[in-house]
Amino acid sequence: MASDPILVVGGTGKTGRQVVARLSALGVPVRVASRTAERRFDWTDEATWGPALEDVAGVYVAAPDEAETVPAFVARAADLGVGRLVLLSARGVDVPGYYGPDYHGAGGHLRNEEAVRASGVPWTILRPGWFAQNFSEGFFLDPVRAGEVRLAAGDGAAAFVDTGDIADVAVAALTEEGHAGEVYELSGPRALTLAEALAEIERVSGHAARYVAVPAEEFVKELVGQGWPQADAAMWTSVLAPVAAGREAVVADGVRRALGREATDFTEFTRAAADVWRSA
Ligand SMILES: NC(=O)c1ccc[n+]([C@@H]2O[C@H](COP(=O)([O-])OP(=O)(O)OC[C@H]3O[C@@H](n4cnc5c(N)ncnc54)[C@H](OP(=O)(O)O)[C@@H]3O)[C@@H](O)[C@H]2O)c1
Repeated sequence: MASDPILVVGGTGKTGRQVVARLSALGVPVRVASRTAERRFDWTDEATWGPALEDVAGVYVAAPDEAETVPAFVARAADLGVGRLVLLSARGVDVPGYYGPDYHGAGGHLRNEEAVRASGVPWTILRPGWFAQNFSEGFFLDPVRAGEVRLAAGDGAAAFVDTGDIADVAVAALTEEGHAGEVYELSGPRALTLAEALAEIERVSGHAARYVAVPAEEFVKELVGQGWPQADAAMWTSVLAPVAAGREAVVADGVRRALGREATDFTEFTRAAADVWRSA
């Protein structure tokens, strides 16, 4: 039914929050789900899935990397007759070696993608690269505020994608025709090194932070020294590998293909987020 809501799983996260805002602005009913959202939803608690999925027209799925139950959830959604599935995945998941020499294209995202493709529900897959918002609300924010960003990213660059663009593509796929069966690789319109990204942040906010490239092995040791479990430290280092290798610098065509416009530039992102760093 046209008045059935769209379920946004991970609706409190970086992309989900913006999907919710955009759907609401369009007058589309939305059900926001996560552990802390109005509709309690937990990837580790199947009992929370059925109530969330009741009578929904479509689902946006943004799951944390550690969620292993996405395929089971997708099967449940299909059983309950949802009309559309839009899955947040990641760039390079089907490319052996993308996340370092030990990556053979068999990560959790690929498993989730396979479940969506096999669901029988019209689907759209989003494969974004590194988010620009990692600097303003994610992994890099505290280091930026502290004035030093240490990463195993070498001198590599990334075409950071604005999460607003990811949300725009998700909303198009959830509400318009023509996106079923599409895999959209999403990036920003140009690549910046970490040092260049921090220089842009300083230009708009006056807050200076420097980038320090740390060799991968040393970086893992540093994280373990800070109390990270070895496996998490290795995983975090491997997701930086495509930046170090220059793979994330390649500009993707997904935003243009899905929306018929250019992707949002990093400078525009920094202007919108400047207050976050000004207060540092
Ligand atoms: N960040 C990037 O640069 C990037 C790039 C490409 C792809 N991705 C992918 O994007 C996805 C989201 O990553 P993110 O780090 O940016 O996270 P995020 O969307 O900012 O936050 C994660 C969301 O998941 C919810 N969540 C966490 N644990 C949950 C649980 N057990 N049950 C239900 N909901 C749970 C959180 O809400 P509550 O805390 O309220 O539960 C939040 O809404 C990941 O799959 C990642 O691989 C990220």
